[in-house]
Amino acid sequence: MTQSIQHENEPRANALRARLDTINGIGQRTYTPTQIVVSRARGVRLWTVDGVELIDFTSGVLVSNLGHNHPLFEERYSHYCAELPRTSYNALTEIEVEAAERLVKCMNMSGPRKLLWAASGSEGIQKAMWCALHKKPDCPIMLASRGGFHGKKGLAGDVSGETSPNPNVRFISFPMQEEKPASFYESELDAIAKECGNKIALLITEPYLGAKGSWHPPKWYHKLLQDWCRANDVAYIFDEVQSCHGRTGNMFAYQSYEVEPDLVVLGKGLANGEPAAAVVGRADLIDSLTYGEASDTFSGNPHACAAVCATLDVFEKENIVENCRAMAKVIGVHMCEAMKKFSFIKAVRGEGLVYGIEMSDDATAQRAVLEAYRGVNEKGVHFLGPLAGKVLRVSPPLTITEKDLDDAFSVLNQAWVRI
Ligand SMILES: Cc1ncc(COP(=O)(O)O)c(C=O)c1O
Repeated sequence: MTQSIQHENEPRANALRARLDTINGIGQRTYTPTQIVVSRARGVRLWTVDGVELIDFTSGVLVSNLGHNHPLFEERYSHYCAELPRTSYNALTEIEVEAAERLVKCMNMSGPRKLLWAASGSEGIQKAMWCALHKKPDCPIMLASRGGFHGKKGLAGDVSGETSPNPNVRFISFPMQEEKPASFYESELDAIAKECGNKIALLITEPYLGAKGSWHPPKWYHKLLQDWCRANDVAYIFDEVQSCHGRTGNMFAYQSYEVEPDLVVLGKGLANGEPAAAVVGRADLIDSLTYGEASDTFSGNPHACAAVCATLDVFEKENIVENCRAMAKVIGVHMCEAMKKFSFIKAVRGEGLVYGIEMSDDATAQRAVLEAYRGVNEKGVHFLGPLAGKVLRVSPPLTITEKDLDDAFSVLNQAWVRI
């Protein structure tokens, strides 16, 4: 039997954690030293059941890009949902068509583009990979960035990490600490193509390696992958499950990296918290699947599509992306100052409003999450459990203000002195 996480002076949260422990499989939860129990949320703030206020540096897990209970999002979402059915299977609603049209239009990619819905990021990844594999039925080989994360299910799990149970998966290098010249990455791709007799259907990568510890490559790297894929007739799949909808300071990360992938997978921020994901890309690839091959119970759910439209409404009416860019500068200054103040901060990496703060070791990273949570005077900062052992993920809602960031770093600068 597992033992639930318990914290001092948290009677309500501790009781709930203990109840959960007896009824919910631990496998559903990702370990975090805090296991925060939230009673309400607004904007960038969360309140725990024991009355502590926290600034959200997670956006869920890069999901609530518009913050929690965003007024315009909630108003538009309720408006769209009105009397909609809650089901999509074997039926069509106007909102589903509208959401697809608006999304494809706002991605502004060249050539005919189409879309497939999914109910989670990993399902979207799987569908994108099916498209590429069906398009080239005699080519079973899949290339993936070593150390990437695309989800835990099916093919998404097969192309995550550094080794795969699937014999058709080959991993390629991604620039991290040591940036090698372009020729190194090109030669590696050519060697794999030669070894497998050019039987490659797809190459899947992330704009930046998030889960591996926030590694953001130079633009030329993605351009190189794109050019190589085009030259070798390999589908270039961009996993934007976590980077979509403003996170990198552009609406989509392929704009930040100046590439135009064949298939882009969207999730998380796509519907600001409603479970929705999508594959958008070359119509010929999307059309390689026929009736039923990518259908399931929840994809294209009307409420999820309503949330997709409500999210786009907010992006159109408010300067979310511009705010992300402005706040990137503010947070950059705060992180530099924190690095000077605390010798246990070894590096900061990121762009837009997605950063990794690399700590000296795993234990210090865990402690930093806990001390931020404990905060000062009933106010704290909420982090995800560290990435790759020792990297704190910083990914607040894109609606965060300069004052919110000043408040958050004022808490961190006091709380981390206790480490
Ligand atoms: C880059 C990336 N791809 C795919 C996924 C999988 O998404 P989901 O958890 O919705 O299946 C995630 C989730 O964290 C992710 O960060």
